[in-house]
Amino acid sequence: MTSYTTASDRPADGKRLRVAVLGCGRMGQRHALNLHNLTPRAHLIALCDPSPAAARWAASHLPDIRLHTDPEEVFASSDVDAVIIATITATHGPLTLRAIEAGKHVLLEKPIALDVDDARPVVAAAESARIKVMLGFLHDHLRESSGKVYLLKSTTQDPYDTTGFFVQYAPHSGGIYTDCGIHDIDMSRWLLGGERPKSVYATGSITLVPELAALGDVDNGLAVITFASGAQCTLHLSRTGMGGYESVVEAYSTTGKAVVDTPAVARVAVTDGQGRRLPGAGPSYIDRFGDAFVREVAAFVDCVLDDTPVPTTARDALQAGLIAKALTHSLKTGLPVVFDGDGEPLLS
Ligand SMILES: NC(=O)c1ccc[n+]([C@@H]2O[C@H](COP(=O)([O-])OP(=O)(O)OC[C@H]3O[C@@H](n4cnc5c(N)ncnc54)[C@H](O)[C@@H]3O)[C@@H](O)[C@H]2O)c1
Repeated sequence: MTSYTTASDRPADGKRLRVAVLGCGRMGQRHALNLHNLTPRAHLIALCDPSPAAARWAASHLPDIRLHTDPEEVFASSDVDAVIIATITATHGPLTLRAIEAGKHVLLEKPIALDVDDARPVVAAAESARIKVMLGFLHDHLRESSGKVYLLKSTTQDPYDTTGFFVQYAPHSGGIYTDCGIHDIDMSRWLLGGERPKSVYATGSITLVPELAALGDVDNGLAVITFASGAQCTLHLSRTGMGGYESVVEAYSTTGKAVVDTPAVARVAVTDGQGRRLPGAGPSYIDRFGDAFVREVAAFVDCVLDDTPVPTTARDALQAGLIAKALTHSLKTGLPVVFDGDGEPLLS
C-alpha cells in the first residue's frame, strides 16, 4: 500500500492506454472526463451503461466517444486495453472476473462486493492474472508524518440528501460501514502500515433517514477498530451532514499530531456582526477529492504502461471488506467482534 504518484504532468512518451469506462453514473462520469481531458497517457475509447440517463449524459458531454449498453461488447473489443468499472456495487465482482478473462486491465471502484466473501474469487483471479487489477481507494499523504501513530480519528460525513437519491441508493450500498466507511478503514490500515485488526465494536443511530431501519442500517455510525499492535482507530460516519461533505483524519503519534482536513470551497471570508464565515455551498466529495481522482486514474495508466505494481490491490480491498463486515455484524448484534491471527473475523 503506497500513495499515488502523478503521471499526468510527465512528458508524453507516445504510449497511450486505451480505456473504456463501465458505468456512467456519478463516479463513472468523473473518471470518463478525467481520462478524456486530464490523463495524457490514456485514450478514452468507449463508455458502457444501459441507462437512458447515461446515454443523455454521454451525448451531451462526450459525443464523440463510442457508447455501449452491454459490457460484453466492451470485453470483445480489440481496441480496448483496460476498463474502469464504476457500475453499481453488486456488479463489481462478476464484471471484474469477466474483464480478467477477456484480458483487460481493471481499475475497480470500491468495494469489490456487497458481501466480502464474494470478493474472495475476485482477489484470487486478480492475484493469478497477468493483467493489472487496481482498486479505487484514495490515499492522502498523512503517513509522511513522523513518529509512531497510536490513534487515528477518522470522520466521513456525506451531505444530508433531500432529493430521494440516497434512499434509493441505500438498499444496494452494503450499509454504512461497507459503503461509506470502506475508505476510512482502508486508509487506517494504510496509515498503520497494513496492520492486522484485533477487534472492532460498532454502534449507530438513525437521526434523519428512518427508511434505513428496515435495512438494519443507520445514518450515523460510531466505531472503534483495535489493531494487533494496540493502535486504535475511531470512525464517525454520517449521512446527515448539514455543512456539506466532510472528510477528516487526525493522527496522534508519539511525536505529535497530524490532521488532514476538508478544504473550504469558498474563497471569500465574510466578517460582520455574526462573526467570521465562508458563505456558499459546502464541498462535495468531488471538490474534496477532485485532484485525487485524477491522480488515481493516472497512477493506474502508469502501472499498466510501465508494468509496475498497482498501489492499491484487490487484497487490500478484501482486508478492508473483512473489517467492514465485522463492523456491520457488531452494529447488528451490539457485540464486539474479534479477529483470528489471519485477520478473519470470528462471527458467531
Ligand atoms: N471512490 C469513491 O470515492 C466513490 C465515490 C462514490 C461511489 N463510488 C463507488 O462507485 C460505484 C458507482 O457509484 P455511483 O455513485 O457512480 O453510482 P450511480 O448509481 O450514480 O451510477 C452507477 C451506474 O452504473 C450503471 N450500471 C449498472 N449496472 C451496469 C452494468 N452491468 N454495465 C454498465 N453499467 C451499469 C447504472 O446504469 C448507473 O448509471 C459504486 O460501487 C460506489 O461504491 C466510489
